[in-house]
Amino acid sequence: MKTKILAAAFAAFCLIPACKSETANTLAASADAAAANSKALTTITGNYATAPGKFLAAKITDDETNSILQAGLRSPSARNRQPWHFTVVKDDAALAKGIIPNIGEGNIIIVISGEGADADKGVVLDCALATQNVYLAAQALGLGSRIYTGPIDTVNGKYKESLGLPKGYSAVALVRVGKIELVDALSAASSRKDPAGMIGYK
Ligand SMILES: Cc1cc2nc3c(=O)[nH]c(=O)nc-3n(C[C@H](O)[C@H](O)[C@H](O)COP(=O)(O)O)c2cc1C
Repeated sequence: MKTKILAAAFAAFCLIPACKSETANTLAASADAAAANSKALTTITGNYATAPGKFLAAKITDDETNSILQAGLRSPSARNRQPWHFTVVKDDAALAKGIIPNIGEGNIIIVISGEGADADKGVVLDCALATQNVYLAAQALGLGSRIYTGPIDTVNGKYKESLGLPKGYSAVALVRVGKIELVDALSAASSRKDPAGMIGYK
């Protein structure tokens, strides 16, 4: 019996360093993740000023486009219903100009549409979150991005068919993506209102 207790104690003793190093590894991985998240937060808080005039006439790559779309597809949605569709306008210059008249060469437009978005506010919210994911993913890749809703009535009234939106879907927002000259994000960012009065603690 005594031998058994000793053996169990010895085994437990041997496991302690293993547990410790596993915890250390988890903490190190968490620190890495926190660093990446903090970089993402910098992207959000100091987004590049992508006024229409800042976009350069240079093509973005298919890899960049695919990464941005992956970010859109990973967006959260109520009951995980994922009611969105992403249409990339990249080769049809006439269609792109019909939607955003001053769009420059090489820029793409990602149209985010939602099933039943005309009547369902929840679908609009899900699509808005997908829009934000697309917008931020582009910026995280060092590209310029700008959200547009001004052309939505034109898109839904005139271009649903040319865009190939699925039946029953309506466009909610567009994200224009293109190369920009990378500048100091914070100093170039557009201003925001004084946060006093916009944040409350209880
Ligand atoms: C929902 C939404 C709709 C927008 N629609 C347009 C638009 O139709 N045309 C446009 O030039 N910018 C549009 N914008 C861009 C905003 O004007 C811009 O985000 C805002 O002025 C802040 O500037 P910043 O993004 O450079 O910080 C839109 C932004 C959002 C979030």
